[in-house]
Amino acid sequence: MNLTNKTAVIVGGSQGIGRALAEGLLHEGANVVVASRTQETVEKTAQEIGATPFVVDVRDEQGLRDLASFTIDKFGAIDLWVNSAGLFKKFPKGDLLDMDRAHEMFDVNFFGAVLGSRTALLNMEDGAVVNILSSAALDARRSVGAKLYAASKWALRGYVDALRSENEDSSVQILSVYPGGTKSHLHDEALPAEFPNFMEPEYVVGKIIANLQLEQPEQDLIIKRPNI
Ligand SMILES: NC(=O)c1ccc[n+]([C@@H]2O[C@H](COP(=O)([O-])OP(=O)(O)OC[C@H]3O[C@@H](n4cnc5c(N)ncnc54)[C@H](OP(=O)(O)O)[C@@H]3O)[C@@H](O)[C@H]2O)c1
Repeated sequence: MNLTNKTAVIVGGSQGIGRALAEGLLHEGANVVVASRTQETVEKTAQEIGATPFVVDVRDEQGLRDLASFTIDKFGAIDLWVNSAGLFKKFPKGDLLDMDRAHEMFDVNFFGAVLGSRTALLNMEDGAVVNILSSAALDARRSVGAKLYAASKWALRGYVDALRSENEDSSVQILSVYPGGTKSHLHDEALPAEFPNFMEPEYVVGKIIANLQLEQPEQDLIIKRPNI
């Protein structure tokens, strides 16, 4: 895909991989709407990088439909929709499982991307829907202490694989990205020991953009840390 003058929506675009992707796409000449839940952060990011802000909670399907309508009204079409919103939570072994926290993570990581994908497919004629999964959805054995996070991403992998088969004849491509550890605020709650060796978001984004620019992008893009 030639990204110049294309229009991208990035849900979870205020920080981390989403923000770096927004910057990369703007650099390629795309129009970018960055969307996330926290008004202050999303507006600050949009102003800093020259994107258009939109406040939405990814668990709110009507809010996502409003985001799609807003983008089409402003730019004419949506060519790229990225589901990057995510949470990473750990759960101590001995305690009763905090179901509110567990549901919140599943609602954002799994249902958020489900709702985003549904909304995108209803509002796009061609282009690509990109879901940011995780290397944890390829091999959960490294997800020690993060079983529920890994499970939320495995669930999403199942959904996206089936969605892709269902939409085989569509002009909209359904792409998955599986990054390894990346430096971002995702890990603020429980900083892993190997965090200093994690990838920079810009490195991950370089791989995503190069893939999007291919005539036939890889459907399952695995981005490994170069230092392991
Ligand atoms: N960092 C890693 O090591 C890594 C590795 C593999 C995969 N991933 C995946 O990559 C994606 C992006 O992660 P990241 O590292 O960029 O994390 P991040 O820096 O923490 O950014 C997460 C983004 O998600 C948004 N978000 C969270 N809950 C939301 C909600 N309910 N509604 C709307 N937006 C919401 C945040 O916005 P607010 O601040 O407004 O909430 C923020 O923009 C996630 O799906 C994550 O699982 C990350």
